[in-house]
Amino acid sequence: MCSIIGYTGKLFVAPILLQSLKRMEYRGYDSVGIATMNNGKIVTRKGIGKVAEVAESLDLLHMPGRIGIGHTRWATHGGVTDKNAHPHSGCTDDIAVVHNGIIENYSALKAELIRLGHNFKSQTDSEVIAHLLELNYSTYKDIKQAMIETCKKLSGTYAFVAVFEDGNISAARYDEPLIIGIVDSGCFISSDVLGFLEYTDKAIFLDNKDIIITNGTTLELFDFDGNYVTRPITQVAWELGAADKGKYAHHTLKEIHEQIRTIVEAGNQNNERLHSFCDILANAKNVFITGSGTSYHSALIAKHIFSRFAKIRCETIMSSEFQYMLDSVDDKSLLIAISQSGETADVLQAVKIARQMGSKIISVVNIPTSSLARISDSFLSVNCGPEIGVAATKSFTGQLSVLYNIIDSMCNGCVGISSDKSEIIKAIQQVLDDEINISKIADTMEDVKDIYILGRSLHYPISLEGALKIKELAYIHAEGIAAGEIKHGPLALIEKNTPVIVINPSDSTYNSTISSAYEIKARGATVVGVSDKMDDVYDHFIKITKVRDNLYPLVEVIPLQILAYYLALKKKADPDYPRNLAKSVTVK
Ligand code: AGP
Repeated sequence: MCSIIGYTGKLFVAPILLQSLKRMEYRGYDSVGIATMNNGKIVTRKGIGKVAEVAESLDLLHMPGRIGIGHTRWATHGGVTDKNAHPHSGCTDDIAVVHNGIIENYSALKAELIRLGHNFKSQTDSEVIAHLLELNYSTYKDIKQAMIETCKKLSGTYAFVAVFEDGNISAARYDEPLIIGIVDSGCFISSDVLGFLEYTDKAIFLDNKDIIITNGTTLELFDFDGNYVTRPITQVAWELGAADKGKYAHHTLKEIHEQIRTIVEAGNQNNERLHSFCDILANAKNVFITGSGTSYHSALIAKHIFSRFAKIRCETIMSSEFQYMLDSVDDKSLLIAISQSGETADVLQAVKIARQMGSKIISVVNIPTSSLARISDSFLSVNCGPEIGVAATKSFTGQLSVLYNIIDSMCNGCVGISSDKSEIIKAIQQVLDDEINISKIADTMEDVKDIYILGRSLHYPISLEGALKIKELAYIHAEGIAAGEIKHGPLALIEKNTPVIVINPSDSTYNSTISSAYEIKARGATVVGVSDKMDDVYDHFIKITKVRDNLYPLVEVIPLQILAYYLALKKKADPDYPRNLAKSVTVK
């Protein structure tokens, strides 16, 4: 969603804020703004566009001062306009505020504030925070009290940072992440560690209902009732280099290529942690698996392999649907939550509800310091490093790798991935080496309106995932279909030259899926095969290397990621920042 950053310290603030916003731009990227405080005056500049564009057009880099806040927006309330960009101020420029989240009661608050004489300049929910803070600060003349009273009035989810004309910065957190980075005589306040990791690895993760006030030298931390609290300083361990594009044109392409390494790293789990995770799983009565988007597709694969190898039956529920499917969730249940970010609001809500019903929670998460990791009874880390591309690529195969390793640990190595990854590495390298062929297939699809992807069994979730990648990166309608279902309706959609990708490695699903391929070919489809076995039915062919049957998902998704990437380039879309999307969806 939006990213927020605040800095107070010895250095000039504008270049720091810009650099931080660039690093967090993946979270939200329709508009950008900065407010700096210099000589007792707050100056705000903001506009629509990406960080680099707005920085240039508004000369953000040279804004003076050593105290300031910044924001990249992903619109929720109010269109993408300069006025709706953050920071927002009240009726005066004494306070400026950046916000991430949604203020659910904003219209009632706005009406009340208008009645009291406040003038609103934007259509956002966020602007009410600035006006409320302004009102409370003028009433109490005390930042602590003004922050507490403001937070008491707000409902919804929020993390916000405010800069005051007296040089203080204050921030509050409720159900949205907010992290402090400690530097010599100063500090950062950010929605992501990437906002400050270049400067410090010392972080304080704020708890819900925490408020901080800092002037760069002192730091007060208290809760919404005004009680002072302490939070530990954590050392965050990620190398910043991993957030650069390296030799690649886009983060997405780099992350696709990194999979040869990240799939292996995902398997490097601490044994004790892995065993405790598996113990909880083995002893659970009802197992539910949840996730959103790509992480939900990992859950679908988990359901297959848990049942196949560990005889554990589970139900998968999309996180956004979890609240409507609670009938059998109880204190004997286990919820496995899968998430790259660990901050997805739908996932966190599912976890919260399951927790209230007495269930245990275990999770597979890429960000070990995330909210999800911290509220789980046990978690395993995907270990794939920061994923910047909005489309999940390496985190998906990393999640699958963790899930396969869990099963391996529960069934004495029956999947075999924990003992021997050489086969997988070879197969992934072969797909990566086929990039040019895949890009040429993308050339043939540039003008199509729809793409269908067929797969059976374990390959069906991969067809869903491939379709999701094509939708989000190339803005082409794409649908994953269980191959056996095509004759039950979707066949009616097939016309001359309709592109259909058939995921058909030579496992137990092969014969049935090749028949489906012939059925669609007979209706005029252009058939693209993804398989280790060539057949005349395919108009285009993406060869994958033969691997053990159950491991195909780790390999066959990669050509679909590459295809989606090249389709995006053909469509002149930015693969790293698809329109209308955000990396971490921290609103419901
Ligand atoms: C994947 O390409 C998407 N951008 C999206 O579906 C994502 O997987 C989903 O929002 C869940 O995110 P999470 O894994 O961080 O919870």
